[in-house]
Amino acid sequence: MQNRTRLGMAIAATLFVAVACGKTDGEAATAAAAAQDADAAATAAAGAPTAQEGAAAGGVAGAGPIAQAADPAGAAAADGDPLRATAAAMFGTIPESVDELRGQPLVAEQVELGRMLWFEPRLSRSHLITCNTCHSLGTGGADNVPVSIGHGWQKGPRNSPTMLNAVFNAAQFWDGRAADLAEQAKGPVQASVEMNNTPELVVETLESIPRYVELFSEAFPGEKPVSFDNVARALEAFEATLVTPGSRFDQWILGDDSALDETERRGLELFVTSGCASCHNGRNFGGQTYFPFGVLERPGAEILPEGDKGRFAVTQTASDEYVFRSSPLRNVELTAPYFHSGQVWDLEQAVAIMGTAQLGRELDDDEASAIAAFLRTLTGRQPVVEYPILPPSSPTTPKPVAM
Ligand code: HEC
Ligand code: HEC
Repeated sequence: MQNRTRLGMAIAATLFVAVACGKTDGEAATAAAAAQDADAAATAAAGAPTAQEGAAAGGVAGAGPIAQAADPAGAAAADGDPLRATAAAMFGTIPESVDELRGQPLVAEQVELGRMLWFEPRLSRSHLITCNTCHSLGTGGADNVPVSIGHGWQKGPRNSPTMLNAVFNAAQFWDGRAADLAEQAKGPVQASVEMNNTPELVVETLESIPRYVELFSEAFPGEKPVSFDNVARALEAFEATLVTPGSRFDQWILGDDSALDETERRGLELFVTSGCASCHNGRNFGGQTYFPFGVLERPGAEILPEGDKGRFAVTQTASDEYVFRSSPLRNVELTAPYFHSGQVWDLEQAVAIMGTAQLGRELDDDEASAIAAFLRTLTGRQPVVEYPILPPSSPTTPKPVAM
């Protein structure tokens, strides 16, 4: 019982941080009040609003394409482990597959076309760069360099986030400037420091390749199958299949006690009680809402470069200076280096920086390493993707432009 009370207070504290950050609505406040009750864990698990739902309702531009149900909560509540019930309600698991987007079933032909486009270098002006260049599916969907390198060996301004499980994010990019994956996919193709192409040249290229014309007609029957919009929609459909179920954390949530060891369990408890979960919640452990990087203490300029004001560039609102989306933390052990600046290679160090910057709390080495150990249990089964054989160019296919 004592354990249970402590946890109830922890949830209250966590929700309080969320409210204090100004990103939740009345629902979360109600949940916080409810959480003072020693039975809060069970209540929350039984479907009371969680910080996640409150935050999503209050702070995110553009609803995510996937409902954020904390599916296994009911099952977890039943087994009487309050930490498990809390975690199930706050986070949830990654489903085995995603079958629909914005209420429409995924179309197999679109997924298949999207897989080819994902690996298609002719989407780039140089015919050398693919989506997979910077989001390698062999390395957790990231490129593992501080900032991405694109057209002409130019350095982009930010670290490439993983797109594994990105379908569960409420908005895309470090600053949330794209509402969904289809809107997002148009960005890198055109960005001069990424693929440096134009929608017109992309369409001209694909229309010059007979097999692509067939595949687009099958995937998007109708007026003008080969279009930049449909390129983005196919990529989105493929990306929706890139989810990572079955992590040790998920196994534990679903009832396997042996899936987490003592340290990892303590790490999870610290993640909840010290307030990390107030910003990193939902089944992706983040990606739902925005917070200043440096709520309590601004990190140094090497980690938070002054020139990148984050969400301010999207909203032009002074209070959004240095505001970023709380990073999704699934598979985080695979996606170093960390933060939008990509300046921190060590997960323990990233955790410690979060402690001082976001919580005003010096985590000792023991605590930081327990939390990092817990975060490593969020690595799921990586999608196995067959490398596509791409159709040959024709004589009318535009030639690559030298980098
Ligand atoms: C040159 C490297 C590069 C290439 C090529 C590239 N990306 Fe990205 N990608 C990035 C970077 C860097 C970001 C973060 C940019 C930002 O937030 O401002 C990003 C962000 C994303 C995100 C958002 C993930 C999240 O959690 O917010 C998705 C999804 C994504 N890219 C998909 C794609 C697709 C699809 C393609 C191919 C059409 C692609 N990327 C090509 C570097 C790249
Ligand atoms: C007030 C909200 C808030 C709190 C509390 C918070 N974070 Fe974060 N976290 C963020 C934001 C925002 C970012 C993105 C920072 C950036 O722009 O690089 C982030 C980034 C991260 C990253 C880097 C992920 C990546 O892919 O680069 C890790 C790891 C992380 N947080 C872990 C934690 C841990 C552990 C705690 C608790 C000790 C915590 N966070 C507390 C908001 C928060």
